[in-house]
Amino acid sequence: MKVLVVGGGGREHALCWKIAQSPRVDEVICAPGNAGTARVARNLAIPANDIEKLVHVATHERVGLVVVGPEEPLCLGLADRLRAAGIAVFGPGSSGARLEGSKLFAKEFLTRHRIPTAGYRRFDRSGTAKAFLEGCRAWPQVIKADGLAAGKGVFVVHSAKEGCPVIDAVMEERRLGDAGREVAIEEFLAGEEVSVLAIVDGESLCVLEPVMDHKQVGDGDVGPNTGGMGVYSPVPLFSRRLQWQVEQNVLIPTLHGLRRDGIDYKGVLFVGLMLTEAGPRVLEYNCRFGDPETQAILRRWKGDLVPYLLATAKGKLAELESPSWDERTCVGVVGAAEGYPGAYRKGDEINGLEAAERFDGAVVFHAGTKLGAGNAVVSDGGRVLCVTGLGANIEEARRTAYAAYDEIRWDGKFCRRDIGLRRARATVGEA
Ligand code: AMP
Ligand code: GLY
Repeated sequence: MKVLVVGGGGREHALCWKIAQSPRVDEVICAPGNAGTARVARNLAIPANDIEKLVHVATHERVGLVVVGPEEPLCLGLADRLRAAGIAVFGPGSSGARLEGSKLFAKEFLTRHRIPTAGYRRFDRSGTAKAFLEGCRAWPQVIKADGLAAGKGVFVVHSAKEGCPVIDAVMEERRLGDAGREVAIEEFLAGEEVSVLAIVDGESLCVLEPVMDHKQVGDGDVGPNTGGMGVYSPVPLFSRRLQWQVEQNVLIPTLHGLRRDGIDYKGVLFVGLMLTEAGPRVLEYNCRFGDPETQAILRRWKGDLVPYLLATAKGKLAELESPSWDERTCVGVVGAAEGYPGAYRKGDEINGLEAAERFDGAVVFHAGTKLGAGNAVVSDGGRVLCVTGLGANIEEARRTAYAAYDEIRWDGKFCRRDIGLRRARATVGEA
């Protein structure tokens, strides 16, 4: 069977790497891919949002399964188009992808189905939004632009003085484009944040191992938000009891809600949660695998991933046993380009990749890379790669990931040095 993976980041490299190991798969094709996917798949220079070309290629190449990485093609209806062409696809149609594509759709869905989340108000005019902020007594408040904004549409503000200019920038100046046509202003929730990913076939679901992301750019969680600077898995904070709570109060009601709303959801349901004193609350839904969460999850996934992807696509997940997981800990460290998450440098030659992978337990997933002159690997994105390390415990996993990371060289490279450290200290403290 041929499998087409859509996207070109670290998540897609990890997916291609894992799918290529399956005995059922003859060839993996990746569109557009990166220099890393080129090692395990055949790259096709088709952008992930070119729906027409992707449908054409999937049909022409007679692929047995399409796995869609990023949210944009899902929101644009790629999965609907492929299904209409009779192709099995892992990823929800555009109606399901609205859970990520529209914050207000998600908030209304959560409220309608009584799934715990922060209270919110909806605004389609900047004047009323600002008047609401002027009258607020509780601070901070969270302003969310409705549409897709590549992780840049959420603002935590501490006063009306801070919030009103944000409303103007988003709703009047349209700094985030159409995403700012409407906003939600919601209650601020305090607590630890965790991501839970489940695969869902429309009828049943399978919860994957919890992962902890590090969203801010700087050590100690300072600076602007990014797509994710590093991960670890498992997450000891996320106890069995908590997992059960999230399943009962969030995941199962979400699945039922989707069915009641007539949405046949087949793919990843990725829930961002705040663990508040009153219990877990949903911060957001994503309609796809996380990046870099997937890199850690797939390093710990034992056995063949492809039967699960196919069963999800075909609505047969209940026929499979739960996947089994490597008991070891995985730490993933993202190497980014100078300037990220703002304007960043590109085109720097990357060296030391082979030396990095010589460390026992290390695997490097490329993200923003491409092949340059003479097959040199050059940087081509804000997040350039993610170095993963497996170890018997978090200390060992961290040592492997950072030792491998330090072998890799390019100009302007940086990473966070504290991935997993907060937890590592807590573990030592408890011992
Ligand atoms: P979202 O894209 O909705 O997950 O928001 C991005 C980030 O903003 C989250 O990962 C949280 O760190 C933060 N955030 C979003 N909503 C809230 C909230 N209601 N209370 C506190 N922090 C929030
Ligand atoms: N790492 C966060 C995300 O994929 O949305």
